[in-house]
Amino acid sequence: MKAATATAPGKIILFGEHAVVYGQPALAVPVWNVYAQATVQPGPPGRGVLIEAADLHLQLSLAEESAHGLALTVRLVLEQLKVPEPDVLITASSTIPIAGGMGSGAAISAALARALGMYLEKPFNESELSALVYEVEKFYHGTPSGIDNTVICYGQPVYFVRGQPPVTFRVHSPFHLLIADTGIASPTKQTVSAVRERRDSAPEIYDLIFANIGRIAREARQVIETGEIGQLGRLMTRNHALLCELGVSSPELERLIEAALNAGAEGAKLSGGGGGGNMIALAMPDRVQSIYSALEKAGATRVIHTVVR
Ligand code: PMV
Repeated sequence: MKAATATAPGKIILFGEHAVVYGQPALAVPVWNVYAQATVQPGPPGRGVLIEAADLHLQLSLAEESAHGLALTVRLVLEQLKVPEPDVLITASSTIPIAGGMGSGAAISAALARALGMYLEKPFNESELSALVYEVEKFYHGTPSGIDNTVICYGQPVYFVRGQPPVTFRVHSPFHLLIADTGIASPTKQTVSAVRERRDSAPEIYDLIFANIGRIAREARQVIETGEIGQLGRLMTRNHALLCELGVSSPELERLIEAALNAGAEGAKLSGGGGGGNMIALAMPDRVQSIYSALEKAGATRVIHTVVR
């Protein structure tokens, strides 16, 4: 059989993280500056599926490994396509930072499942792929909302409401984002369960915060679709204030957000689970360079400049 290669992008949540777990809408976009890639080719006869991922220092054989997300991905693909285990060598790689809220786990699973489906001549469509990767996300994260697998598998800006079919939307006027990493790994599972505990102790207060975040996400979608980018920064900063009320910011995130705003960002917020991980800042084109430098100076361990289109 012919070798097959597939890729999947990283992602960033623009609006609505955490509230999305409680039924509010969220917006997320793919980030193609970073991506995961997988190649499937014929492997040694009789050895079944072998997976190698040099960046993850990973080498495994499906027959011997059960408790790994990539092994689970392969198993789900074979189950879904109703094919016996083939003799293949799968090589996977990724430039997406791990545990930074950019969907590295979902992207590598998506690339792998997509490549294996192509190799077996039964390619997945986006919705099938997304459902499969969601199963793997559950293995990594417990109770994910499903936003990561959706935006990564569709590869387009997504307006996402848990339990509803995803809606992709159009970006009227491209805009510049800087994504800066605090360098602090903060597992999403932890911040999600911390928010759940707090919400359980005062549901009315937290549900009101979630509803306000939802309102901002809806408004932001409109603004992006109509191209009034001037409004977007203000919405980001307001969303961030509500995330602070949820208790998911951190001193490191605050430092980067303040630095971006002081350097002229239109707006800034944490992105993803919070507690660490990444923040995003909206930059007018002539400010990109100065905000980039300010973020580096304020201690960001990595800054990615991306244009959302
Ligand atoms: O950390 P990330 O980018 O995977 O985002 C988590 C987003 C949450 O809303 C906090 C959780 C979820 O499952 O949607």
